[in-house]
Amino acid sequence: MLVLIAGTPGVGKTTVAREVAKRLGVAYVNVAELAVNEGLVAGYDSERGAYVIDEEAVRAKLRELALRGRAVVDTHVVSAVPPELVEVAVVLRLDPRELERRLKARGYPPSKVLENVQAEILDACLIEAVEAFGEERTFEVDASGKSVDEVVEEVLKIVRERRGGKPGSVNWLERLGDEAYRYLTADARRGNAA
Ligand SMILES: Nc1ncnc2c1ncn2[C@@H]1O[C@H](COP(=O)(O)OP(=O)(O)OP(=O)(O)O)[C@@H](O)[C@H]1O
Ligand SMILES: [Mg+2]
Repeated sequence: MLVLIAGTPGVGKTTVAREVAKRLGVAYVNVAELAVNEGLVAGYDSERGAYVIDEEAVRAKLRELALRGRAVVDTHVVSAVPPELVEVAVVLRLDPRELERRLKARGYPPSKVLENVQAEILDACLIEAVEAFGEERTFEVDASGKSVDEVVEEVLKIVRERRGGKPGSVNWLERLGDEAYRYLTADARRGNAA
């Protein structure tokens, strides 16, 4: 079975998922790396500067890998993970302002920063996870202002005890107020506030 660590690009999936896999003593699978290394790509999105993964091929590969045992899977592409293999899905969340800083520091173009910040505010990944796996198997962890260790411990508790933040526990619209609307009304193509 698979433990899925999902979330908007930049929230800390890879940092956390690697450590969670190590602590559980199971394999770690990064879907983006897997797709590129195994040639499971459907094309290149030049506007976003990223490969588009072949989701069907990735699902087939994950089914194959899951036969070898439990694994921690790291991806923001929830639909590339076969729902029947997911024992628990943890969606990492990050304060959109912190996410904006991190993505800018990565050198992402303004349009890509804004697109991801908007997706985080609108719970895009969480909604996809709930739709694919159901509320029972889906949890969220707010990583804002927490150390990597703290986030890893929270994720491990969820994996072991199936207790923790349920979908809806994070609400950026409420937390950010007007600032959220400033992000949402900005022009994603230009990456500028309206
Ligand atoms: N809890 C944390 N506290 C501070 N910095 C963190 C924390 N978790 C991750 N980071 C930092 O944030 C950045 C993004 O983390 P990471 O690469 O793990 O994100 P990701 O979700 O895997 O992104 P992507 O979807 O693009 O692969 C890295 O520089 C990482 O060191
Ligand atoms: Mg990553």
